[in-house]
Amino acid sequence: MEKRRDFLGYSFATIATVGVGFSLIGMKKAWDPLPSVLKSGFTKVNLKQLQIGIPFTTMWRGKPIFILRKSSLMKDSPRDVIINNKRYIIVIGLCTHLGCIPAWKKDKWQCACHGGIFNYNGVNVFGPPPRPLDFLPFKVEGDNLILGEKGKEYKKLLALNNQ
Ligand code: FES
Repeated sequence: MEKRRDFLGYSFATIATVGVGFSLIGMKKAWDPLPSVLKSGFTKVNLKQLQIGIPFTTMWRGKPIFILRKSSLMKDSPRDVIINNKRYIIVIGLCTHLGCIPAWKKDKWQCACHGGIFNYNGVNVFGPPPRPLDFLPFKVEGDNLILGEKGKEYKKLLALNNQ
């Protein structure tokens, strides 16, 4: 009699464990972002298309991103990202005052909303913006920049800028 009870107990425990396992798999599938959502989190930019001294603008997660390949006349900065011996500034193109999109004029980004100015390194040099243009995660893959992934160049940039 006891053997039968043990058998029934083990059987129920096994069925319950399998049921919980399937439930957890189902819940994980429901919580995981869809592949389309995961894909939309990254933006690939081929750096070969950039002109020297003129920022390239792209979008990443609904935000404008400025990528500037610096000219030889532009001074070095801790905000420089060196890729294949070329210097780049990679920042989110939203004014750090109230979020307007600054425009590139005469080697600087100028915000039309309240007159804020950022130099070519993205550093606030005039007006109400309280800090430089923000960085965003990126990774370098050959001649491509993958916006949204945290690569070693990004981590180095943060360390150089105490972030
Ligand atoms: S939003 Fe750019 S200066 Fe105010």
